[in-house]
Amino acid sequence: MSILELKKVSKIYHPKEEGEIRALDEFDLSLDEGEFLVVRGVSGSGKSTLLHILGLLDSPTSGSMLMDGAETTSWSDAKKARIRNEMIGIVLQDFGLIEYRSAYDNCMVPLYFSNKKYKSDKERILEILETVGMKSQYKRIVSKLSGGQKQRVAIARALCNDPRIILADEPTGQLDSKNKEEICGLFHDIQTKGKTIVVVTHDEEFEKYATRVIHISDGRITEEYRHP
Ligand SMILES: Nc1ncnc2c1ncn2[C@@H]1O[C@H](COP(=O)(O)OP(=O)(O)O)[C@@H](O)[C@H]1O
Ligand SMILES: [Mg+2]
Repeated sequence: MSILELKKVSKIYHPKEEGEIRALDEFDLSLDEGEFLVVRGVSGSGKSTLLHILGLLDSPTSGSMLMDGAETTSWSDAKKARIRNEMIGIVLQDFGLIEYRSAYDNCMVPLYFSNKKYKSDKERILEILETVGMKSQYKRIVSKLSGGQKQRVAIARALCNDPRIILADEPTGQLDSKNKEEICGLFHDIQTKGKTIVVVTHDEEFEKYATRVIHISDGRITEEYRHP
């Protein structure tokens, strides 16, 4: 059974001047546990919309989205929030971090809302910050960190709860080549731990780790290939 499945999902926006925009157009996708899917496409092709729908942050205009075979579109907002917190770690394009709090505090947020209990939250957070190379900086305020460091904290926060699915929106968009390589490697490490990953990116770097690559244009898949 697929961990995530989209069936004929469309997302239509209605900005005043332009009439309607079909950000996703009868989109089909079936994702198995442990896959590393890379989604590529030019700006405006629908990548962020796709990620937000997969992450239960936004609902399709039509079509269905299933998680472990269960239809999600009828779920209440409270149920979506609970399942998101348990199952999904999301790295947003603009990080979505609380700028005036520490790296540690930011990682604490998902644990605070979670039912999962760790022997020690502090140990858990420091362990995760270590995997992204930020353990020694755990007390630093996010607004004082570099782009690459913020990216790492955003990834750590997404991992804290041990979710089964990691979704990331252009996680190397603002990084130099050295940081890009390191962040790509980090996602590869995450995959080897059995997580299912979807990365939306312009970056070719990710493709060497992907189990599948799709190209999208105007909210449709134009090309798809699998890596062995
Ligand atoms: N909240 C919104 N309101 C109106 N139009 C939107 C909104 N979000 C995205 N769009 C439009 O939907 C299309 C796809 O956008 P998006 O998913 O952000 O693409 P990408 O992430 O590939 O750049 C674009 O034409 C964009 O302008
Ligand atoms: Mg985008």
